[in-house]
Amino acid sequence: MNETTYDLCDRSLFTEGPPLDLFRELREHTPVAHFPEPDGPGFWGVFRYDDVVEVSRHPQQFASAPAVFIQDPADPTVTQELLINQDPPKHTKLRKLVNRGFTPRQINALEPHVREIVVGLLDHAQAMGSFDLVHDLAVELPLAVIAEMVGVPHEERHQVFAWTERMMSNDDDDQAAVQADAQIAIGEMFAYADQLIASRVDGDGTDLLSVLLRADVDGEALSQFEVDVFFMLLMNAGSETTRNLITGGTLALFEHPEQRARLAANPDLLPSAIEEMLRWVTPVMHFRRTAQEDLEIAGQSIAAGDKVVMWYTSANRDDAQFPDAATFDVARTPNDHVAFGAGGPHFCLGASLARLEARILFEELLARMPTLEQAGDPVRLKSNFINGIKSLPVRLA
Ligand code: HEM
Repeated sequence: MNETTYDLCDRSLFTEGPPLDLFRELREHTPVAHFPEPDGPGFWGVFRYDDVVEVSRHPQQFASAPAVFIQDPADPTVTQELLINQDPPKHTKLRKLVNRGFTPRQINALEPHVREIVVGLLDHAQAMGSFDLVHDLAVELPLAVIAEMVGVPHEERHQVFAWTERMMSNDDDDQAAVQADAQIAIGEMFAYADQLIASRVDGDGTDLLSVLLRADVDGEALSQFEVDVFFMLLMNAGSETTRNLITGGTLALFEHPEQRARLAANPDLLPSAIEEMLRWVTPVMHFRRTAQEDLEIAGQSIAAGDKVVMWYTSANRDDAQFPDAATFDVARTPNDHVAFGAGGPHFCLGASLARLEARILFEELLARMPTLEQAGDPVRLKSNFINGIKSLPVRLA
């Protein structure tokens, strides 16, 4: 077996950002290798672009159930109901339901409102002069947008955010306590979602919660529990990811002043710059699949039931796919990165929304804050899953 001595569940490997040198070494020497996990059988890590695409596009061989996170949940009650952990045919039906709220036409129609939110946040930040890019901007934009789309009252969005933080971005060293607290946060969030549901049952609202409540899957409505779980997925996925694209993207511009100047002089490059930020940052670093039969990946035998983890971060730095992959190039084309997944049925539902939010934010930020500069070191989230930044002090020079 291609066993390695590295432990990718050891979060201290990620304190300075993703271990890109290690990923390069793995791509070159052991592109499919076996890693340990605490209290579990371990997993196969897949590091090359082509292999990540291969796994992602063959859902019959590589299933999403029982979970797309490395460790199996202690209690599968909630996990098995999450869209992201499901396989056809149930996944196909549920995905169709939410797709309706995320068509490119619907997302593009949000542009004026998203711009209004961005301008409000930038005005506020400008008045402060010095501010925290994460706390004052990167967190607020995606949260305000997804809360409104789902149907969370504006003044209650921070409460919901506090729950998503406890589930996705808690990097305390006592991981057992983190897991226990996440369970409590889930319970509290479901109780809150139940209240929102109760106020809508007979309504004809247009928010996603109302749409889910009216949904019909083969003649049956979704149960209250199923709607609660959807609510949780949309709020978590909508607010815990795009914020790190915004922060990581801004940091990349600070670290590459020549690319920032090029972008400021050519705003037409923004769409390709956003794609490059997605590749560069890769806010979601991996997802897992489970092999459904004995098979091979790049010549390595994998047994039915084995866990297979696609390292998007590594695939996005693969020189075989991206010439000069270690260079941040705001004009890079083509740029078929896998930050939203590598194709297949689970491709990120919110990709167009995340792109829209980032494009408008950077359009306005570059135009209104040309003198924005870093005022301190970023504080990184200690995680092997979310490439996160918890704080980034900035100021207007
Ligand atoms: C930069 C921001 C984002 C990144 C990097 C990201 C990344 C991802 C990735 C890697 C996947 C899994 C793809 C796969 O397995 O093939 C995914 C799935 C998903 N994303 Fe995103 N995402 C982002 C923003 C959003 C937003 C704003 C939403 C809004 C609701 C969202 C909702 C979802 C949902 C619901 C799924 C599961 C889809 C399914 O299982 O069918 N994401 N995302």
